Amino acid sequence: MSLFGIKNGLKQYLPGHQQQANGKDQMQRFDKTNQLADNEELFELTHVGPYEIVAPIGSGGMGTVYKAIDRANDRTIAIKVLDRRYDLDWKRRKRDYLGREILIAASLNHPCIIKMHKDIIIQEDVNGHKRRCLLMEYIDGHDLKKHITDRDLTLKQMIDLSIKLCEGLDFLHQHGIVHRDVKPSNFLFSRDGSTVKIVDFGLSKSNASWRTRWMMKESGGTRLYMSPEQLRKRSLDQRSDIFSFGITLYELFAGQHPCEGPDTKNIVRQILSSNYKFKPPSAHNSEVVPILDKIILKALRRKLERRYQSCTEMLLDLSRLGGSRI
Ligand SMILES: Nc1ncnc2c1ncn2[C@@H]1O[C@H](COP(=O)(O)OP(=O)(O)OP(=O)(O)O)[C@@H](O)[C@H]1O
Ligand SMILES: [Mg+2]
Repeated sequence: MSLFGIKNGLKQYLPGHQQQANGKDQMQRFDKTNQLADNEELFELTHVGPYEIVAPIGSGGMGTVYKAIDRANDRTIAIKVLDRRYDLDWKRRKRDYLGREILIAASLNHPCIIKMHKDIIIQEDVNGHKRRCLLMEYIDGHDLKKHITDRDLTLKQMIDLSIKLCEGLDFLHQHGIVHRDVKPSNFLFSRDGSTVKIVDFGLSKSNASWRTRWMMKESGGTRLYMSPEQLRKRSLDQRSDIFSFGITLYELFAGQHPCEGPDTKNIVRQILSSNYKFKPPSAHNSEVVPILDKIILKALRRKLERRYQSCTEMLLDLSRLGGSRI
C-alpha cells in the first residue's frame, strides 16, 4: 500500500482532525516522501514512549506499523500500534494472552525471526485513547508480496528463500508457536535481500477466536492464505501454517494463487472444497520441477493427516531440492 493510501487509511483514527484546532498535541506531518507536507495531515501518534514516530509503513489486520527513531540507541525501530478494538472490550482484554505471547516471541533468537521487544508500551493517541504498541526490529526493505508481483527472483533464489522461511517456521513450531497468519506480507526482506524475517508470529495465538473473526472480515486478503480448518474455525496446529505456507510458496513459484475464483468468496469456497483440484505450479511456470510441484501440493492437502506433519519434514524435501542441480 502506498504511503498515500496509508495516510488516507489513518483518517479513520482521526475523527479529531479538530485535534489540530484545539492544539492538544503538536503533530508531525509528512507527505509521500516523508517530508513536512504542505497539506498538513495528522498521525494518530507523535511518539510511543521515548520513540519518535517518523512515518507509517503500512496497515494490516491488527493496526498500523510505523517507522520510529530510538535516539538513546541511535537506531530505527518499527512499532505496531494496535487498532483500538484491541482495547475497547475489557472482558475481551482480560482473556487476551497477547502479553504472554509477546514475552515468548521476545525470547526467541533465530536469524529468520524478527526480534521483538518484550514490553508492550501503552501510549495515549491524539484522541486521548490508550493504545497498545509493540516494538520490534525495523527491516529496511520490502515484503515477499513485492517479489511475487515483480517476478524478479531466479528459481534457485526462490528455493533458497523457501528453505530459510521453512527453517524459521520450523523454529517457531518447535517453540510451541503456531503463526496463524502466514502470508507474503509477513515475510520481510532487507533491501539487499540477504536477510529474510518472519513477522507477526507473536500475535498469532492471542485470543485466537476473535482475532480469527476479525481476520475473516479483513479485506487485506488474509483469508486467501487460510487453511481449510482455519476457515472453518476449528482448532489449529502447526499443519495449518504449513497449508498457508503452501499457498505462499505456490504464489512465489507459480506467480499466482492456486485458486482461480473471481473473488475472495469464491477462492475461499475453492480452498474448502475437496472437489477443487489445485493445478501443479508448473502449469503456470514451466521452470518448476516435478519434485517441487509435489512438495507444494503436499503442503496444500486438505486432509490434515495427508499434509506434511511438520516443517522439519517439509524442510527435508526442500533441502534435497536445494542441494540438487537446478
Ligand atoms: N518490523 C518491520 N519492519 C519493516 N516493515 C514492517 C515491519 N513489520 C511490518 N512491516 C510492514 O508493514 C506493513 C503493515 O504490516 P501489518 O502486519 O500491519 O499488515 P499485514 O502484514 O498486511 O497484515 P497482518 O496484520 O495480518 O499481519 C506490511 O507491508 C509489512 O511488510
Ligand atoms: Mg503483518
